Amino acid sequence: MNMIGKRENFGSQFTFIMAMAGSAIGLGNIWRFPYMVGEHGGAAFIIAYILCCLTIALPGFVCEAIIGRRARLGVYGAFSKLAPGTKWKWMGAACVLTSFIIVSFYSVVGGWSLDFLLRSLTGKLSHGNPDGAVAIFNKMAASPVESISMMAAFLGLTALIVLGGVKKGIEKFTKITMPMLFFLMLLIVVFSCLLPGAGEGIRYLIKPDFSKLDGDGWAAALGQAFFSMSLGMGTVLIYSSFMKKEDSIIKSGLWTAGSDTMFALISGFAIMPAVFSAGIEPSAGPPLVYETLPYIFAKMGQDAPILGYAVTLAFFLAVLTAALTSSISMFEVCVEHAVEQYGFKRWQAVLAFFVPGFILGIFCSLSFGPMKDVKLFDKTIFDLCDYASSNILMTLGALVFVLFVGWKMKKADVRDELTSGGTVRLGNGVFNVIYFLIRWIIPPAILVIFLINILQ
Ligand code: PFF
Repeated sequence: MNMIGKRENFGSQFTFIMAMAGSAIGLGNIWRFPYMVGEHGGAAFIIAYILCCLTIALPGFVCEAIIGRRARLGVYGAFSKLAPGTKWKWMGAACVLTSFIIVSFYSVVGGWSLDFLLRSLTGKLSHGNPDGAVAIFNKMAASPVESISMMAAFLGLTALIVLGGVKKGIEKFTKITMPMLFFLMLLIVVFSCLLPGAGEGIRYLIKPDFSKLDGDGWAAALGQAFFSMSLGMGTVLIYSSFMKKEDSIIKSGLWTAGSDTMFALISGFAIMPAVFSAGIEPSAGPPLVYETLPYIFAKMGQDAPILGYAVTLAFFLAVLTAALTSSISMFEVCVEHAVEQYGFKRWQAVLAFFVPGFILGIFCSLSFGPMKDVKLFDKTIFDLCDYASSNILMTLGALVFVLFVGWKMKKADVRDELTSGGTVRLGNGVFNVIYFLIRWIIPPAILVIFLINILQ
């Protein structure tokens, strides 16, 4: 689907859901979710996360999609069209800033996947020594040349795909790799749960200890829900601007949220039992998953060498494509804005974001090596970008989208979108409940969680 230029529609609701799931399912599920669970105490965080998805992120998705489909334009254009002459349009610039920050640090983690894919080609991960698994990550992350070149390669791939308009090809490829990732993860879940000492990890995931869940944990759960569903920064808005009028926004949101949450949960059950089995600290932060995977694959390789090799290779190929379909959706927000609003040529827009993205990416990469002690607000540059984008920028972004639909758009227009011009059946009572939630419940809920996090 060419996002720029002639605004064609997604061929079917299924294609829209696939594209949305491609953006939503990525490193946020495989890498970020398990490390968040580990940092915020396990099962209680998972419950908070699911609650945030259902009660706040899902309605947030619906609001962002309503704006996109109504306006059929990018973020800046959408607000200029639906609220002409107002300041709402500045939301376009805010979305670009958020996308830009995320693309930069996301490329670091995407680079780790690329590095692990290359290592798995030579069998280094599946034939390694499980005891030395953690060292593999540490050595890679601490080497500036290796981590920066991998980050640059991932960001470069993202930029090239967006530039070359070969997203169609990538989307075809993901039709194979997504189901492949799903089955491989299920296989890893089974393997991981059978490792010695895995029981403690399973207990950690299913026995909630609410004393460990503070305001910070709730804010992290909400931020993770936004990050994982690609909300609050214009991606859903742009994709929805291509959605056909007859398609149901609510149904699309349910499918996106459902598949995204399922992937996150599976990933948690693939990683955490192995974390406990290997004796890795669950609160190890961003490195957690990449410290644990070599352990899993080395163990698998010990038991069944060929299977270990094949699974490792296929897994990282699938992770890399899932990461790319997410990063291109963020990069697209930046590029679309520069092309639509400032008349940039496509290659100019890509370059204009690639160069500063690469520079910020360097600082994020070095946060795991030579710059690990350089801290701002007690966080490394990588952690600060990660935290600021999901816990602050995406959260505020989603709040603005919800406020716009609840308080600025006409109720009749909201109803028209939710019922797809009357073609989707939605009882009056159900509509009124949704509308009430959008106006009165969700904005204060987001605000309260946000403020508790900022003020504590
Ligand atoms: N949802 C993606 C993930 O879970 O990896 C990350 C992401 C993509 C965030 C697109 C924001 C976005 F606009």
